[in-house]
Amino acid sequence: MHVNDFHMINEVREQANVFARILQNRTLIANVAREVSVRNPRYYAIGCGSSYYASIISVFYHEHLFSLDSRAVPSSEFIWYPPSLNPLVLMALSRSGRTSETLEATRRAKKMHISTVAVTADPSNPMGKECDYCLDIGIGEEKSVVMTKSFTASTLVSILLGFELSKLPSANRKEFNDELVQLPTIGDRVIRGVEDQARTTAENMKRLNRFIYLGSGASYGACLEGALKLRETSYTACEVYHIPEIRHGPFALLENDVGVIVIVPDDKTLNQSQMLLKEMASKGATVIPISNVSAITESYKNSIRMPDGIPANLMPLLSVIPMQMVAFYYAVGRGLNPDLPRNLTKFVTTEFDQ
Ligand code: F6R
Repeated sequence: MHVNDFHMINEVREQANVFARILQNRTLIANVAREVSVRNPRYYAIGCGSSYYASIISVFYHEHLFSLDSRAVPSSEFIWYPPSLNPLVLMALSRSGRTSETLEATRRAKKMHISTVAVTADPSNPMGKECDYCLDIGIGEEKSVVMTKSFTASTLVSILLGFELSKLPSANRKEFNDELVQLPTIGDRVIRGVEDQARTTAENMKRLNRFIYLGSGASYGACLEGALKLRETSYTACEVYHIPEIRHGPFALLENDVGVIVIVPDDKTLNQSQMLLKEMASKGATVIPISNVSAITESYKNSIRMPDGIPANLMPLLSVIPMQMVAFYYAVGRGLNPDLPRNLTKFVTTEFDQ
């Protein structure tokens, strides 16, 4: 099978168009935000697997950029440990809108008189129909079992919902908005600029057996997703930590067959990351920085240089793209079909009505 015949890589390459589509249809998001807006609410974002990781990233924006009282939990935890405080708004992220835990969590929320907003690929699915409001992530169909464009799309929609719910001063609103509108163009540059590097990196990763992903802030959520892509498509053991957490125990894992993928943006985490990269390399690990800092990428043979001019706020979402590509090429290089991983279905249904 030729590389271009796999759905996964084609869907990864579609992401700039998906960003453009979402940004063109922001009125609906703004309308929903107006409808669910209540005084001093607490927001919960839920999901399973990739959809939970999308919740983690978007909630980081909600809290740190938009000053919303927002948190992300897996759907199952929402069911088992329901929040007691009101007023609440629940954002439920699910590509399929059929995952048992997420569906059940939204049903519970409705019984608790919590407003529910579905963020999903098809508003006619059960979750889309049952929630109070539904936001279509605008991806059309995703043929690959593994989530790629649906992941970045639901993250973006959920970030935008937070943006519309926020009470940001107009100057800050404008600043963030000016960055957001660049997403399709910069996304396109990322997609074109990193694919060859991701392919080479994946080839060099063949001699490695275990991987660690490191990121900070919203990039930690991006790493959770990057690692999940590698696990799902190539059945490889991966761990994920906030950057300096690696020193507190997992350093013991570092040896010659370990690859460490680190997201290194040009921000306050840079110096600490730079020191860590050196230390990890000195312990025999292969460090693979994904960065827009040339001093970092030029220092390591296996690195992925992100294009210049990416606003810091867009880096976490965009750094998912090279990680998706690395996972794809690593799996294909091992003779696996990343579109149809073993033991994986498009959504999981199980008894979850306890
Ligand atoms: C990841 C993946 C799964 C799903 C999870 C939730 O590539 O496919 O982790 O993200 O099963 O599925 P949805 O979003 O349909 O609820």
